[in-house]
Amino acid sequence: MKSIKIVATGSYLPEKVLTNNDLEKMVDTSDEWITERTGIKERRIAAEDESTSDLCAGAIKDACANAGIDPSSLDGVIVGTSTTDTLFPSTACWTQKKLGIKGMAALDVSAGCSGFLYGLELATSLIVSGTSKRIAVVGGEVMSRVINWKDRRTCVLFGDGAGAAIVTEGVGDSGVLASNWGADGNLAPILYQPAGGSQQPASHESVDAMAHTVHMEGNTVFKHAVVAMSGAVTKAIEAAEVSGDDIDLFIPHQANMRIMEAARQRAGVDAEKMVNVLPKYGNMSAATIPVALHESNLAGRLKDGDLLAMTAFGTGFTWGASIVRW
Ligand code: ACO
Repeated sequence: MKSIKIVATGSYLPEKVLTNNDLEKMVDTSDEWITERTGIKERRIAAEDESTSDLCAGAIKDACANAGIDPSSLDGVIVGTSTTDTLFPSTACWTQKKLGIKGMAALDVSAGCSGFLYGLELATSLIVSGTSKRIAVVGGEVMSRVINWKDRRTCVLFGDGAGAAIVTEGVGDSGVLASNWGADGNLAPILYQPAGGSQQPASHESVDAMAHTVHMEGNTVFKHAVVAMSGAVTKAIEAAEVSGDDIDLFIPHQANMRIMEAARQRAGVDAEKMVNVLPKYGNMSAATIPVALHESNLAGRLKDGDLLAMTAFGTGFTWGASIVRW
């Protein structure tokens, strides 16, 4: 077992709420269609002057306050995001600036919706190896800036937010029992933002073609998400030498209720153990798992010794799952 402890969690959610009824006025859709096909009722939208680092800084501040520590005492900041503040430097560095902290390592993890679990895996390795002692792992996104608000197939799905966890050396029995992660870059064009990088730098043409927004084959993502999320978590459960029945809390990436349900059923975990914040926030990509984790923590759904299973899938495609003794 890799001995670490998530000593505190936090979140930052923008104030503005965009409901399905609001979306009915923007594109040809309905509350009924969105609710039935996805399970989403509303999502948060960042203010004009808020970027991803503002949300990440807010979540770290909240988590540090809950841990009773100052952000300057962190020795690492890992940000999972697909909606970076700038192409360079990293959103983690911008987050340091917003927090007024410096010195500790700061890096982004680009793994789409799996970004938080990839970050947790890295933080765990850094702590177990003795390189670091106290790392903030954050998932933060401002998806609203990369959405084509005229495309009903994508604009109804996403939301903005950030969640953070403070990870330290293990306490008592706490730790990561097992994890599983992977990627298949051959499937990259199925879900991506075509322009803005070195493949297709920004130009008048790229802007006119809406190439700076999310391009997604929804059905294909759906099928791969079910297989990869359930596969990763099933393998992690097996590697941890436990069963679905032993899991006390199940937090799948919150993309679509049908994907979450399929992953839960295939992992053999009872329905009441699944955390579902999707109706309130939509798909916040890398932020969904840490926000769901924080809300579960606040609600007292995690006690020392409990077994937590988390599983994610995202652009890349990437996937990951972790079984954590709380
Ligand atoms: N409102 C009304 N109708 C719509 C909307 C909408 N917002 N969007 C699509 N439709 C229509 C389509 O045009 C289509 O109509 P047609 O049959 O006349 O052509 C019909 O609804 C069915 O469309 P499908 O795409 O087949 O609908 P599906 O049941 O697959 O649901 C969805 C679409 C919700 C996108 C689903 O495929 C999905 O959730 N995929 C996963 C995507 C995802 O979660 N991506 C996030 C990033 S990756 C991740 O986080 C895991």
